[in-house]
Order: sequence, then structure tokens, then C-alpha cells
Amino acid sequence: MTECSKSTNRILRILNKNKLIAAPLAGVTTPPFRKLLRKYFDGLIYTEMVSVEGVRRKADRTLSYLSITESDQPIGVQLFGSKPEAYTEAIEVVQDYIKAEFVDINMGCPVKKVLKSGSGCAMMKDPVNSGKIVAAAKKALGDVPLTVKIRLGWDKKNLNYNEMIKIAYEEGAEAVTVHGRTKTEMFSGVVNYDLIADAKANAKLPIIGNGDVVDVATYEKMLATGVDGVMIGRGMMKQPWLFESILNGRDPSGYMTYDKLYELIKELVRNEKIYKGEMFFLETVKKYIVWFLKGMPGAAALRNKLYMCPTETEMFVMLDEYFGRLGQSTMCSISDDAVG
Ligand SMILES: Cc1cc2nc3c(=O)[nH]c(=O)nc-3n(C[C@H](O)[C@H](O)[C@H](O)COP(=O)(O)O)c2cc1C
Repeated sequence: MTECSKSTNRILRILNKNKLIAAPLAGVTTPPFRKLLRKYFDGLIYTEMVSVEGVRRKADRTLSYLSITESDQPIGVQLFGSKPEAYTEAIEVVQDYIKAEFVDINMGCPVKKVLKSGSGCAMMKDPVNSGKIVAAAKKALGDVPLTVKIRLGWDKKNLNYNEMIKIAYEEGAEAVTVHGRTKTEMFSGVVNYDLIADAKANAKLPIIGNGDVVDVATYEKMLATGVDGVMIGRGMMKQPWLFESILNGRDPSGYMTYDKLYELIKELVRNEKIYKGEMFFLETVKKYIVWFLKGMPGAAALRNKLYMCPTETEMFVMLDEYFGRLGQSTMCSISDDAVG
């Protein structure tokens, strides 16, 4: 059993400077988006989840998920997989390639493709194997901190978050993130703050609360559970500046001017073009732009036109016209509806 004293816990040291953490988001927290986040956030960011099987085989596509730059720090690599020995090999490869500062194990993903291999939230159904995985990962990582991300349990009848947190602690993890929903709930309903508070009250290691944090009120509500840190996922897809606004005590809606938002979009386009190349960047940036504009005046009509745009030039003609109409200094007023 590894002792995890408060003074030496490296996650706590980061959280003492910045209580917010950027969640791992598949297809979103890629290098270009992380670069954008860094304008508003110097806390801990996770990569999207990366398959240990792909990493141990050194599959090109999987290894591309591991590209990390200096500006990414502090960054954690999130891994998923269901075999302890695969973690041992994969972590060797990860550390050979990039020397990750933190590694996280995904035990919360509810997506069928991931569950089918016994990974993600399926691991909460097999605490014994999960313990072996945490132990194997910790052994392979040595001094590098390990974190684990879970849900409350498989369903309401199987709420085993306290058991999973205890196992993570005993096998050497330095923190556990708890998404306050079960696997069955997926992303529906409201996050369960009482059970997150219960997880924190029973834990011997730092707990990071996750779920539905999108503004100052929801951030404070999550902090009121007693958690040591607060992880934000979907909120940053729509408003990547929300880390800065929340830490300044202001809501993300109304925080940006329209011209600043347009500058941000242009920057993301430049970042994506470098990362994905001329052939493939356009569809990805359209996805982000639609998220950023959601709830703004005329955004629904613009969305349809945007998806039809065949070239970057045409896209910018449309966006120039749109942002030109909105004016330079008006504050962006964005409604609170969730990312679709
Ligand atoms: C598009 C998308 C991709 C996600 N990818 C991952 C992932 O790679 N690893 C993971 O642990 N969770 C993933 N999640 C879950 C989030 O990290 C987070 O736990 C969840 O969205 C709840 O937080 P939120 O309410 O702040 O979004 C993903 C969620 C979304 C919406």
C-alpha cells in the first residue's frame, strides 16, 4: 500500500494553484484545442483517452494521440484498456515517447465500443482486475503520479465508487476523479452532488468532482461537496475561456467580446491546419465553430450554411459577414443550452 500524504501529493500541489482541471474529451482535447485552452488556463489538462493496446503495438494512429508540446504542461495522458500487462507495456512506450507528467486510467467511459473490451466503466464491474491494473500501472510509472477516473457505479443498484476509490488509493493512485453519474445514466439527468460529497468524505486521497460544471454557480456547487478539484468537460467544448472566467468569478456567457471570439476561431483554424493538414482540418474546425456560436444571434441559420461551405475561403467570407453584423464591442451573449 502506498501512502499518499497531503504534503507530497503532486495533484494536490497543482490543485492548490488552480482548482480546475480540463477533462479528457475524445476528439476534442487534441493538441490544437489544448493550445487554445492554454490561453485561459494553466492548470492540469488531460489528453483524450488513448488505447493501451494501440500504444503497446505502437500503432501510428494511436501514437499520434500522444503528441505533446511544451505548452501542454502540466498534462496527463489518459489510457484505457482492461489488461494489467498491457498497461505495463504501454506505459513503457508512453514514457519512452513523451515522458508524461501524469497518467490517468479511464474507468468511466460508457461507450459500447470501449465497454465491449472490458475497459472504461466496465472496469467498475471488476474491482479485482481494476486493482491489478492500478498496481501494474503504478509499478510501470515509478515516481510519476497516477490518477483514476470513475463514475458512481454501473447503475443505481451498484454504486461502488467508495470501493473503487479505496482500491485506487491502496494500489498507489494519487487522486480519483468522480463523475457524479452512473454508466446507465450516460450524460442524462443531473449530476449527484450528495454522492460526490460522500466519496470525498470517505476518501484517503484527493477527489476531483466532475459533472455539469459550466459557470460560477455550478463550480461553487461542486466545490461545496468538499472536493479538492473540479473537472470540466462539455463546458469547455462550447466556451473554452470558461476556466479563466470562472476563476475570475465571472460566468463564461458575456465574458468574451464578439471580436475576441472571432480572433479565437481564426487561431483555432490556424492550429488545426497545422495539426491535421490542408486536406482534413475544415470539417473539424466547423464542429468547433458550431459549438462556440451556439446560442448566439442567428447561429442556427449560420450553422447550416457553415456545414455546406466547401472551402476555408468561403467559410471566412461567411464568418466575416456574420461577425461584421454583430459589431466589434458588443459582449457575446450565449445561452446556457448544453453542447449537442
Ligand atoms: C465528446 C466527449 C468525449 C469524452 N471523452 C472522454 C475521454 O476520452 N475520457 C474520459 O474519461 N471521459 C471522456 N468524456 C467524459 C468527460 O470527461 C466528463 O467526465 C463528462 O463529460 C462529464 O463532465 P461534464 O459534465 O463537465 O461534461 C467525454 C465526454 C464527451 C462529451
